[in-house]
Amino acid sequence: MAKSPVVPRLSLTESDPERSLEFEFVRATENAALNAVHWIGRGDKEGADAAACDAINGTFDRIDMRGEVVIGEGIKDDAPGIFLGDMLGTGKPGSPKFNIALDPIDGTTNISKGMPNSISVMAGVLAPEKGAAMLNIPTFYSEKLAYGPTVAEAMRKDRRLRFDLDTPVEEIVRRTAKIRGKNVREVVVVVLDRPRHEKIIRSVRKVGAALRLIADGDVTAAIAPSLPDSGVDLYMGIGGSPEGVLTAAALRALGGDQQLRMWVRDDEERARIAKDPAAKQLKKIFHAADLVTGKGAIFCATGITSSWLLPGVKVVGRHATTYSILMRARSRTIRYIQAVHDLDNKTIYLRSRDRETLV
Ligand code: FBP
Repeated sequence: MAKSPVVPRLSLTESDPERSLEFEFVRATENAALNAVHWIGRGDKEGADAAACDAINGTFDRIDMRGEVVIGEGIKDDAPGIFLGDMLGTGKPGSPKFNIALDPIDGTTNISKGMPNSISVMAGVLAPEKGAAMLNIPTFYSEKLAYGPTVAEAMRKDRRLRFDLDTPVEEIVRRTAKIRGKNVREVVVVVLDRPRHEKIIRSVRKVGAALRLIADGDVTAAIAPSLPDSGVDLYMGIGGSPEGVLTAAALRALGGDQQLRMWVRDDEERARIAKDPAAKQLKKIFHAADLVTGKGAIFCATGITSSWLLPGVKVVGRHATTYSILMRARSRTIRYIQAVHDLDNKTIYLRSRDRETLV
């Protein structure tokens, strides 16, 4: 029998920081979800967001990492947040350098109303020598079109099946139906319920597909077509640009794809972004691999209230159960992590208090 090669032993962080730190990422979103759970239904989305940010900052304050936030939250309604250029981790010299994208809560309005579909979500990529591994889109919103691995693969193989953001919605639905071996009326299309989507909504209904309107939270919606059991075939519409980049990190691991094109909301924004080099690419259609580059990308999310992606936090008596997903693009491993937390013992290190705090 051939001898297995002798692999020199290295410390975990020396050998593969992505692998050793991925679980710290998921601990951060778990803590964010646990700290935000008290805010469900309380009508205070900023309070929920602040609680999630506090837990994420606090979790990373104890981790040797130099994490630079390259995709932060969209600056919306003076909400608290973790923004572009913020640093996560102790910053210890020599510790792994990561580019980070995050949304401490996607679906803050949903939480404030006690509605479904809110998650805490992060992505991390080992920082490249130059530039960033994730594209910071300067427009607040982008047009998006997301589909699963079967559709992405079929489009790669057969150009007659291809569609893009400029293809009429009816045709996108028909081609998806053909690829998925479904009747058009069985094609499930998710769209954010917004007046700006009136035309898309009309077209989806006209072609006879199954429309699912959602109130908020398009990260889970855009990932859904890539999940084998979601029952969702397509996500389309205009949503937040940072959310589009986070979605891309997940799709790199799941094998689906998302087309994204910047969407300028008004003249004020057009003037603001004019000097940004990325603004030269206003017409470009980006794919997941253009938005998150490099071989490796970690993506994780924890459910706060239930969605296509994950169940929400369940609190029963003195125990809370969290449901998370953790994936790596390099290995394409998808982990579903169910954690049971004993609320008499579970503490979270909160930055605001600078100490371990009972949940
Ligand atoms: P937040 O919870 O971070 O505020 O985002 C919710 C969300 O629905 C995103 O998922 C989506 O991309 C964006 O807002 C859509 O923006 P708008 O609510 O302005 O249409």
